Amino acid sequence: METTKKNLREPIVCVLGHVDHGKTTLLDDIRGTTVAKKEAGGITQKIGATEIDKNTLETNIKNYFKNIQVTIPGLLFIDTPGHVAFANMRSMGGALADIAILVIDVNEGLKPQTIESIDVLKKYKTPFIIAANKIDMIPYFVSSKDTSFKETLSKQRKEYVDFLDEKIYKIINDLYVKGISSDRYDRITDFTKSFAIVPISAKLNIGVPDILMVLTGLAQRFLEEHIQFESKSTRGSVIEIKKEGSLGTTLDTILYQGVLHKGDKIALNTIAGPAVTKVKAIIATGKKGMVEKESIKSAAGIRILITDKLDVLSGTSIIAIKGSKTDAAFNELINESKPDIKLSENGITIKAEAIGSLEAIAYEMEQNKINVREAQIGDITKRDIINVSTLNNPLDRVIVGFNVNTSGDAKEAMETNNAKVISGNVIYSMIDDLTKWLEFKKN
Ligand code: GTP
Ligand code: NA
Ligand code: MG
Repeated sequence: METTKKNLREPIVCVLGHVDHGKTTLLDDIRGTTVAKKEAGGITQKIGATEIDKNTLETNIKNYFKNIQVTIPGLLFIDTPGHVAFANMRSMGGALADIAILVIDVNEGLKPQTIESIDVLKKYKTPFIIAANKIDMIPYFVSSKDTSFKETLSKQRKEYVDFLDEKIYKIINDLYVKGISSDRYDRITDFTKSFAIVPISAKLNIGVPDILMVLTGLAQRFLEEHIQFESKSTRGSVIEIKKEGSLGTTLDTILYQGVLHKGDKIALNTIAGPAVTKVKAIIATGKKGMVEKESIKSAAGIRILITDKLDVLSGTSIIAIKGSKTDAAFNELINESKPDIKLSENGITIKAEAIGSLEAIAYEMEQNKINVREAQIGDITKRDIINVSTLNNPLDRVIVGFNVNTSGDAKEAMETNNAKVISGNVIYSMIDDLTKWLEFKKN
């Protein structure tokens, strides 16, 4: 019997959370499970992404949970960094994801980037589950590995179970304060009302079958419309850009719609605005390493080679151009490059390397009740300095630059003009510096 429904693509699952809470270790488990069990065509690590196919998914779940019929073609996971500086990557991941895993160290609870991740998921209305990781660090843990949470739990003594409950309740409470109602997944009856918490130990490979089961269940019940395979247009999102000297530029891309062919023309955003370029090669990670492909179907993590000299904008969409659709694609790309930020008549100027981080900074400014007058992508230039130095309100003569450079002549201009630049790659400390500067200027 055909159990894969026609025309579904793999749901894109983004893994988010605070630094060192165990996101990458969890993805290692998801990859490793198949390597260990030598599943043919099992889990492949794609560029920027980890893919698990239907059969592997089914086998992993069915070893522990009998009643689930897998109808999706697999899952495509995207890892994100938890470091404070990578707000842009988290924002991009949240935007791309059909569903997400929020990883929380069960012993540490909610931390700043956990909360930032929750804000991203709320903003994009992305459904998610919570992986309460490092349950092996809870006192009285009776050793277990490579198994489900349920099986691990059945081996534990009462002392451990009480400690675990206490830690999970703390997370439930802290999430509740953030407006999220949650419960341990095996105690939930209505998954539309509560977010599922799956206790895991990524280090000992405990709880992966439970995670896969809950994700698959949610995707099949609530995401079907969302994950219809669409062949009419081909789209992706560039997650990493590398200049390879004379060879050209490679774009690590998550293809989320349609089919991409070698030789296709694609529209994308560059520092100078929308542009069209040609796909010179498509590189994917196959079972035996990197392979060139003539075409690839979504969803997939791929590397695209282009040979035009373009300054591709990090996080840009790529849209395959067929016939004379260039104008529509360009309009879309122009819209995409306009940040979703409320600007005020008076306020500070912010600059960042990408839309996602610009929006993240604007969000933090709003939280701190600091008005933003201007928000732009790109380095801090002499012109920026001159612009802010002529503003009437002395409190507006400041530029906050996130992950951008300040050009040499901008630095010179700073000396002769009355303007302040606060730059760095840690949003919170930049806001600290800014608040201090604003206080100082007021007095
Ligand atoms: P970033 O990508 O830097 O944000 O971190 P991450 O969330 O990907 O965490 P990572 O997987 O790198 O794990 C961080 C550390 O925690 C590593 O030393 C892991 O071995 C350890 N770790 C991860 N999961 C567990 C776990 O379940 N139990 C224990 N004891 N340690 C774990
Ligand atoms: Na880490
Ligand atoms: Mg990691």
